[in-house]
Amino acid sequence: MTKDKILVARAIFPDILERLVEHFDVESNQDDAVWNKAHLIEKLQGKAGVFTTGGDQIDAEVLDACPDLRICANMAVGYNNFDIDAMSARGVLATNAPDVLTETTADFGFALLMATARRVAESEHYLRAGRWSRWAVDMFAGADIHGSTLGIIGMGRIGQGIAKRGALGFGMRVVYHNRSRLAAALEAECRATFVGKDELLATADHVMLVVPYSPATHHLIGASEIASMKPTATLVNIARGGIVDDAALAEALKAGRIAAAGLDVFEGEPKVHPALLDVPNVVLTPHIASASVPTRRAMVGLAADNLIGFLTRDAPLTPINLDAIGARRRAAR
Ligand code: GLV
Repeated sequence: MTKDKILVARAIFPDILERLVEHFDVESNQDDAVWNKAHLIEKLQGKAGVFTTGGDQIDAEVLDACPDLRICANMAVGYNNFDIDAMSARGVLATNAPDVLTETTADFGFALLMATARRVAESEHYLRAGRWSRWAVDMFAGADIHGSTLGIIGMGRIGQGIAKRGALGFGMRVVYHNRSRLAAALEAECRATFVGKDELLATADHVMLVVPYSPATHHLIGASEIASMKPTATLVNIARGGIVDDAALAEALKAGRIAAAGLDVFEGEPKVHPALLDVPNVVLTPHIASASVPTRRAMVGLAADNLIGFLTRDAPLTPINLDAIGARRRAAR
């Protein structure tokens, strides 16, 4: 039996690539070369499946140019790099990588919050620059985490993990805002109170963004939202670039309108708004919230298993648009 052809668009762990090679005729990008859209389209010719990261865009133009494609397996939980409607319309399955990264990403939300509020990165740069000649009582004095109010925008699995860490580990009062309110039992488990977005911004000492990116969440936090936060507050974005207006944030940080920010994601990343690089009270990390070794292996493994499950047994593990694909298949019968 001839094997399906697949493309692995980025470098992945060699043993997981081997697993894919057992099932498929695999073309891979183990040099991790940067491919533009035309190159991706060329590489996708004749491929039934593709392994993607969150940086690989699959849109209508790509799909129309690659008619053999049946599945796009993203190794990220977020999938705003996929045009799901275009995929569903063409009968192409999309899968993502939920759950396996929840706890690691929630851990990182806290890492970034603490680094930001307690000025860890700023003080480390100061020390490394050889500027520490004398200790002082107010040196790099920041904001407390314990006992403060944590506001979480986006209360999916990762938001819930952050809420539990805040309430149970740090004695924080946790408020959250989400498209829909959690069931009472889940709210109680997270020890979190549902509030409107305006109330959250006005009352939280620390605001954490964990909401998916969509046109509806584009610049959810801009100049006026930042202005409504406490001047002592911190803002942490581990969600997606584009949810915060980075230019407005840089301006607000420079003017001291809020105390500090921690950003793991950026508009147009890997580019970073140059004004952010010039302000000291922001901690910047290169989209690494899920980057522990076991979790990155689990994410890559899940995307690989989605390719194997769907193309060999018609049984993907974590499909996004299976219903739409099924309806299309039924209509074609
Ligand atoms: C990372 O950003 C993800 O969506 O998994």
